[in-house]
Amino acid sequence: MIYGFIGVGNMVSAILRGMAQSGRFPQGALCGYNRTPDKALALQAEMGLMPCDSERAVAERADVVVLAVKPQMLEGVLPKIAPAVGPDKLIVTIAAGKETGWYEERLKETPVVRVMPNINARVGLSVSALCGGRWARPEHLAIVREMFETVGTVYQVEERLFSAFSAIGGASGAFVHLYIDALASAGVQAGIPRLLSQEIACRVVEGSARLTAESAVHPIALMDQVCSPGGTTIEGVHTLKRLGFESAVQQAVRAVIEKDKLLGQ
Ligand SMILES: NC(=O)c1ccc[n+]([C@@H]2O[C@H](COP(=O)([O-])OP(=O)(O)OC[C@H]3O[C@@H](n4cnc5c(N)ncnc54)[C@H](OP(=O)(O)O)[C@@H]3O)[C@@H](O)[C@H]2O)c1
Repeated sequence: MIYGFIGVGNMVSAILRGMAQSGRFPQGALCGYNRTPDKALALQAEMGLMPCDSERAVAERADVVVLAVKPQMLEGVLPKIAPAVGPDKLIVTIAAGKETGWYEERLKETPVVRVMPNINARVGLSVSALCGGRWARPEHLAIVREMFETVGTVYQVEERLFSAFSAIGGASGAFVHLYIDALASAGVQAGIPRLLSQEIACRVVEGSARLTAESAVHPIALMDQVCSPGGTTIEGVHTLKRLGFESAVQQAVRAVIEKDKLLGQ
């Protein structure tokens, strides 16, 4: 089976590295076209990606065609590949916002699987949502699951929940970076050198995430365990609550969901 990528930018580079390193996809199984050829050529040198010379060439050559350009570019790309796709191909889209029905209107009876990965794919820790469109069968979902499991964990999610997943499983990564920077910066203010402070902040986020994931109890119960009566941690927790920490996070998630729905229209 040949897997072809239209757009080989940041996200696809991570996915291709995951696929190549997994050893589950033979040499010669991966091809791609990028508007600026350098990116595809660099991946050819790095991991044997076969460069194609157009969107149409990818659609003709590949059995699985991954659409990985920015969402606003899709309207221009789909007419180019439409003559080369049909029921015997599989379209995989990682573009934010657009629903499977939007592709089906333009690509007739071609099976479509929609995926929302995140950039933690670069370290093999993406969480990726997937759902199938009208013509996608279980074997199509299995093909896509195998691809994205090379860069992290895959969840099959109803399409109506994709916007929520994009916020909780995608944009929230940026929130975590913001939190790490705020924490590191506060450490600098308190006298810890910047790099050390940042490393400590990263380790705490990593450790607390693992503790929560591996624990059978609610995160708030874990928080209570470290809040000694009259102690220091409860002072910090109260300050965050008073300043609206939880409400800010929840409003940010709602803003992402609203914007995602708007972009999909
Ligand atoms: N990055 C993320 O965290 C993330 C997460 C989930 C989903 N996504 C989705 O993944 C897709 C790609 O995002 P990205 O962050 O990887 O963006 P990106 O780095 O900008 O990659 C997009 C690539 O598409 C290329 N391109 C544009 N038009 C093209 C065309 N007609 N044919 C072939 N290649 C074309 C661009 O080429 P140039 O080199 O010429 O610019 C660029 O390399 C988007 O739809 C985004 O919504 C991204």
